[in-house]
Amino acid sequence: MATIRDVANLAGVSSTTVSHVVNKTRFVSEDVRLRVLAAMEELEYRPNALAQSLRKGYTHTIALLLPDSANPFFAELGRAIEMEAFKAGYNLILCNTEADFEKEDVYIDVLMKKQVDGVVFCSVGSRADSFHTLSNSKLPVVVLDRELPGIEMDTVVCDNRQGGYLATRHLLELGHRRIGCIAGPSQVTPSAQRVTGYRAALEEAGVLFDEGLVIRGDFHPEMGLLATRRLLKLKKAPTAIFSCNDMMALGILRAAAEFGASVPGDLSVVGFDDIELASYAIPSLSTICQPKVEMSSTVVKLLLERIANMKLTARRIVLPVSIIVRQSTTGIRVRP
Ligand code: RIB
Repeated sequence: MATIRDVANLAGVSSTTVSHVVNKTRFVSEDVRLRVLAAMEELEYRPNALAQSLRKGYTHTIALLLPDSANPFFAELGRAIEMEAFKAGYNLILCNTEADFEKEDVYIDVLMKKQVDGVVFCSVGSRADSFHTLSNSKLPVVVLDRELPGIEMDTVVCDNRQGGYLATRHLLELGHRRIGCIAGPSQVTPSAQRVTGYRAALEEAGVLFDEGLVIRGDFHPEMGLLATRRLLKLKKAPTAIFSCNDMMALGILRAAAEFGASVPGDLSVVGFDDIELASYAIPSLSTICQPKVEMSSTVVKLLLERIANMKLTARRIVLPVSIIVRQSTTGIRVRP
């Protein structure tokens, strides 16, 4: 592979001159500039990106930490963030932490050494150590989706509480009173906020909250299946279930089929996220839409502003959600 010295020799200039042409760090006459560019092309010379970034103090690379890149919500979010970063001239490094705090720690340590320009941080869960380590680093960071109350960092979330409220109110308006709820992991703020919204809608409608109708899940389809089996075996089974994400809602559909319960006839189901698969499920899934494209553009905008100015006051952006009504919900069937 050609070196900067090979280019200098072919162009008849010094290596320093070649460096000034590549990095535009000093005026060079047009004649010399063209000679150097011609030599670079002839030798297929590629400047050393790491050397360039060390010299300039930035890499035009940002890192995205996600807890589960196989979950379509995160896959769709990661794709949108990558597109926004690319438009802004940045490369993206995806770090999948697999909902593992230890792996999250390793990635944070690596990123602080790798000289990335900034980090979009969607945490495994609201564990103070990770947030404080990033907050105390010199790295520009934007927190996405899962937050730590009281931490002074740029944050972008959706209105999870409102989403849980809208999903439950929709079921109440259809006449349902025994409404199950399958929650996400306890250490994840969005799930807790959604359950709060679920309870607020029940209270507003004068429906007594029944702890036995709330089951802790893990955001994976299997837990949606297992939790629904438990709910449908109850003496007074629910006629509707609100799932704190779409992947568990897909598990609900499978459990209903196992029990010979039709959706929505015997069991109405509402999810959360509005992943692409939600509209292709049979029946198509009513769900709460998280504005993934807007979340992504907002995250990248805040991060680039933070990279340009670390002294900015921390901003917390809460984006509105909306309910998408599809085939998986209907009015309660009056049993004879
Ligand atoms: O489906 C994954 C869930 O984890 C989403 O609802 C998202 O908000 C994240 O917290």
